[in-house]
Amino acid sequence: MRIGIFGASTDLQGQSLAREAKALGVDSVIIESDALDQGLPLSFDDGSIFYRRQCMDDLRGFFLRFIPLPHVPTLQRDDEIVLYDDWYVNYMQSRERASVFLSWLLKLQHQGAMLVNPPHAASVLQFKPFQLHALRSSGARVPRTLISNDPERVRAFHAEVKDVIYKPVMGGAITQRLGEEALASLDAITRSPVTFQECVPGDDLRVMLVGDEIVSSVAIVTPEQHLDFRADPAYKSGEATYREVKLPAAVEEQCRKAARLCGLHFAGIDIKHQGDQYVFLELNSSPMYYDVEYKLGHAITAALARYIIEGARRAEASEKR
Ligand SMILES: Nc1ncnc2c1ncn2[C@@H]1O[C@H](COP(=O)(O)OP(=O)(O)OP(=O)(O)O)[C@@H](O)[C@H]1O
Ligand SMILES: [Mg+2]
Repeated sequence: MRIGIFGASTDLQGQSLAREAKALGVDSVIIESDALDQGLPLSFDDGSIFYRRQCMDDLRGFFLRFIPLPHVPTLQRDDEIVLYDDWYVNYMQSRERASVFLSWLLKLQHQGAMLVNPPHAASVLQFKPFQLHALRSSGARVPRTLISNDPERVRAFHAEVKDVIYKPVMGGAITQRLGEEALASLDAITRSPVTFQECVPGDDLRVMLVGDEIVSSVAIVTPEQHLDFRADPAYKSGEATYREVKLPAAVEEQCRKAARLCGLHFAGIDIKHQGDQYVFLELNSSPMYYDVEYKLGHAITAALARYIIEGARRAEASEKR
């Protein structure tokens, strides 16, 4: 048996997953997310798929670490980000490439393969406003939230909630406090909604879930207090430490329920914790977990490997029936 890892052969998490799978007697094929950018051969020949001229039809279990998305090619010139002269052709080609990969994944899903995680939530594709809905409907507590492009509504939210943070709808930037300066430049949001939330105090917890199993739950410890722990120089330089946390059974159950509602087999769940309050922020579908595994010895990769292989075996067995 073989499993597939959509990612990059240079990625440590993918490499260690391949090692764990090998220890369980299963080989891995790493499918480079930039395979088509590199010109590696990929063919859909009627119903069969060939990657680097090898037939992939036997693979029934996959880890989706990175998948290609359409992107605009840019470069940094002095202090400015500028487009390549041939940006239009490049952008259109990146859409074609992303469409081929997504279709491959949808085909696998249609065939009943185990995809960790499924394409709608794979890699960096995350729909945080939907996640907040899923979290709320699972009974989990979430921060008071306004997602809006309407400056007037944001000012009213701020007047009511007072201590407010803002962050991008899709993530990818450090969370900031909504202070005087940001309030004065709210007109900038009209063409791109932003997430505004009540600022929730407490420790930052990261819970890793594989299937129904909570494989790790820790508080992230940084030397200084920051609104977003990722802004801490110690965290950025890889010196963060982690403290093991025992979650109440009800919070563990909310984690499982929220992941199920979001369609995630594997999730890195961010929670703010103070006293008996657990406030859910988001579920990461392709979380970085290697640092926790390395520093605390939590066997996240092994759990992932087992889960994908068992899922692949079930998929194979149901095809034979
Ligand atoms: N409402 C909030 N109150 C207090 N702190 C928050 C709040 N929202 C975010 N933060 C801080 O910012 C960090 C990042 O926010 P969050 O996890 O919601 O999204 P994100 O990590 O920015 O998304 P991505 O991982 O996709 O970049 C949190 O871990 C927490 O430390
Ligand atoms: Mg986060």
